[in-house]
Amino acid sequence: MPHVLVTGAAGYIGSAVTAALIREGYGVVALDSLGTGNRAALAPEATLVRAEVGDQAALDRVFQSHSIEAVVHLAGLIQVGESMTEPGLYYSGNVVNGLALLEAMRRNGVSRLVFSSSAAVYGVPQQVPIPEDHPIAAVNPYGATKAVFEEILRWYGQAHGFQSVSLRYFNAAGAVGPYGEDHRPESHLVPNAFRVALGRDEYLPVFGDDYPTEDGTAVRDYIHVEDIAAAHVQALSRLGQLPRLAYNVGLGRGFSVRQVVDTAERVSGRPIPVRIEPRRAGDSPVLVADPRAIKSDLGWHPRHDGLEEILASAWEWHLAHPFGYSN
Ligand code: UFG
Repeated sequence: MPHVLVTGAAGYIGSAVTAALIREGYGVVALDSLGTGNRAALAPEATLVRAEVGDQAALDRVFQSHSIEAVVHLAGLIQVGESMTEPGLYYSGNVVNGLALLEAMRRNGVSRLVFSSSAAVYGVPQQVPIPEDHPIAAVNPYGATKAVFEEILRWYGQAHGFQSVSLRYFNAAGAVGPYGEDHRPESHLVPNAFRVALGRDEYLPVFGDDYPTEDGTAVRDYIHVEDIAAAHVQALSRLGQLPRLAYNVGLGRGFSVRQVVDTAERVSGRPIPVRIEPRRAGDSPVLVADPRAIKSDLGWHPRHDGLEEILASAWEWHLAHPFGYSN
């Protein structure tokens, strides 16, 4: 059975990617420190190695004891706001640790990798929807570290023959069966909205209503995590044959924070009171993908294309796990 090493496999997107790989017949070795990931988010078929991505000895042991044919690198720090106040943490977690992984791959003769990048590499877009050749101009250290790592991968391709692709996710949402979104602390819009619907929080803070958008709140491209997971499986099988090094993974249409809240109220049938607060540092006003390249080059097509459907799957998960994975 071909084995794939998935870093960050017990995280939100990692759990969906791991489940999808297993369904497609891959063996998964899951590298996760469980610092922010959850054991319960990991499919039971995966082999867990509890270690940091920067742990060279642990990486060598993994590569030497399993026959790994490729790596899906998802582990990393993901909070835009935190990255603004602790940039060093982000360069260390997302760049330095990532380099340790690449060097361990080199030492052990593995050179195929799918990387979890982000729409945050584009910063404040000059053009919407955003094509992949839009200038890279992150407005927060989180996005900057993703952009740096994409560059590193490009040079590892030239120097060491690495075959890699970076998937620039827009806003992952929704749940896949038993696997849903539960970050500690939670900073994402959809789970925060449902925390209010569940009565765990009194209100949802809305960060800024003075953006140059239709209703003044920030616009994002929400995409089902299952479709993001499918993009990884497809990218993995086509490594080395793709014309681009990076692809947007989004649906190509945007919803404002207010529209998400309205839809979340409809889907849950519960009120979600909001309180307008100042803009969050590092936030872009609009991030919407131009997804044409991934569709034409990879043949990827989203199975879930409605915000209501995406949020309904998230709500179902939150109802079943009102306290997240700590149920
Ligand atoms: N927001 C609120 N209230 C909240 C949480 C979020 O108003 O309680 C707003 C944010 O300010 C932003 C929007 O809702 O305008 C979406 O915020 P999220 O935190 O859910 O998502 P981000 O767009 O900031 O970031 C997410 C991922 C990143 C990824 C990015 C790409 O966390 O990893 O999408 O678009 F890079």
